[in-house]
Amino acid sequence: MAKAKSYYFCQQCGYQSASWLGRCPECGKFGTFQEEVVKASAPAVGKVSGQRQGQSMPKLIQEVAYGEMPRIATHCGEFDRVLGGGIVPGSLLLLGGEPGIGKSTLLLQTALAITDRRLLYVSGEESEQQIKMRADRIGIGSENCYVVSETVTQRIFEHVEAVRPELLIVDSIQTVSTEDADSPAGSVSQIRQCTTEFQHYAKQSGVPVLLIGHITKDGTLAGPKVMEHIVDAVLQFEGDRNYGYRVLRALKNRFGSTAEIGIFEMQGSGLREVPNPSEFLLSQRDETLSGAAVAATLEGARPMFIEVQSLVSSAVYGTPQRNANGFDMRRLSMLLAVLEKRCGFKLGAKDVFLNIAGGLRVNDPAIDLAVACAILSSNVDMPISPRVCFAAELGLSGEVRPVSRVEQRIAEADRLGFEKVFVSKYNMRGLNTRSYGLQIVPVGVIEETFRALFA
Ligand code: TYD
Ligand code: MG
Repeated sequence: MAKAKSYYFCQQCGYQSASWLGRCPECGKFGTFQEEVVKASAPAVGKVSGQRQGQSMPKLIQEVAYGEMPRIATHCGEFDRVLGGGIVPGSLLLLGGEPGIGKSTLLLQTALAITDRRLLYVSGEESEQQIKMRADRIGIGSENCYVVSETVTQRIFEHVEAVRPELLIVDSIQTVSTEDADSPAGSVSQIRQCTTEFQHYAKQSGVPVLLIGHITKDGTLAGPKVMEHIVDAVLQFEGDRNYGYRVLRALKNRFGSTAEIGIFEMQGSGLREVPNPSEFLLSQRDETLSGAAVAATLEGARPMFIEVQSLVSSAVYGTPQRNANGFDMRRLSMLLAVLEKRCGFKLGAKDVFLNIAGGLRVNDPAIDLAVACAILSSNVDMPISPRVCFAAELGLSGEVRPVSRVEQRIAEADRLGFEKVFVSKYNMRGLNTRSYGLQIVPVGVIEETFRALFA
């Protein structure tokens, strides 16, 4: 029997210390240390009999064969896109997201859709009846999906041995615990130990494991950042609770790109894929109102047209307010400073509110010009036509900078029926403007854009 020993763990980042500390030397948070009991040497974990032996013998790199293990398609285009074409055998995936965002729904729906493989869905949060109720709501029947309500990893591996699934889903890592650590479920040492057990199981059996993890309000995975290093891919499910749209992103992916996103819509009967996001992101405006501009952004390989809305009003109280929804606040401050210097925008005297339609968060810098134009439009109270879009980044001196893959953005704008697209003049080299029906307006500095729009 291994000897039990107690350590103090930072519940925020997982830093381990032999004594209690007031402030974590790793992440700098105060009052996060908690005592947890761990066994000095944990026994071998996550083993299922009949594992392939000799897996970890060193091999010459030329002799390493791959490709013989095809990825498991999830039969969900958006999910596959984020994964990089399906689930890699033997991989350990973590799906994070705020409570209630739809993580359990996404994975149960995926489990039901993979009808050609034997699956085990383990839930530590819901009973089998509750899982069945959810499955009925989603409305997909599957003859290969086993469900069990269980919270102890040792029991889970017993079920695994009985069912021999080809894919294991665990909902959620915060609710499962191992007998090898005495601290309560959800604590750092439990989560670390359990994740390691699932990793051993996945690597040794070749069965991929999907773990659900909760994240806290401030956006970190509840408790342990430690998990992120162990798993092969970290996916995040996010979205504004007030909108039905959900975005799946890869924060880390050992087997694919992290640039791709998947878009879903939460409906009464589960999640629906949204293969063509631009059509819902552009609000149907008949009349032209000031303060709105459309940005031609790219998320991964996919063009996404997004409406940026801004409201600029005179600041009534001392300090002007700045508020951005779905856009980086520091970037907004920078753009406002550029506008003050270049376009006579009186920064100190105005409240500025910015909203990205649809409750999305955009990382593409090509949205800059649309943000600046939406602010200017609201400031002078003159509308921009809904048939005009923007694809350029703004530099500190007010220069309109080129963006990547501008042809793709222009072609999509053309397809969606836009009449005009503003791009950087530095993007024009080698561009065949004749092949598009819409007018391409090259601009060099922000003043030029302002004059072209509102003169
Ligand atoms: P859930 O998957 O339980 O979230 P999580 O596992 O991330 O905590 O679902 C969250 C919400 O989705 C819940 O409030 C109900 C809603 N929902 C639908 O709107 N339609 C559906 O078909 C289902 C199953 C859930
Ligand atoms: Mg859940």
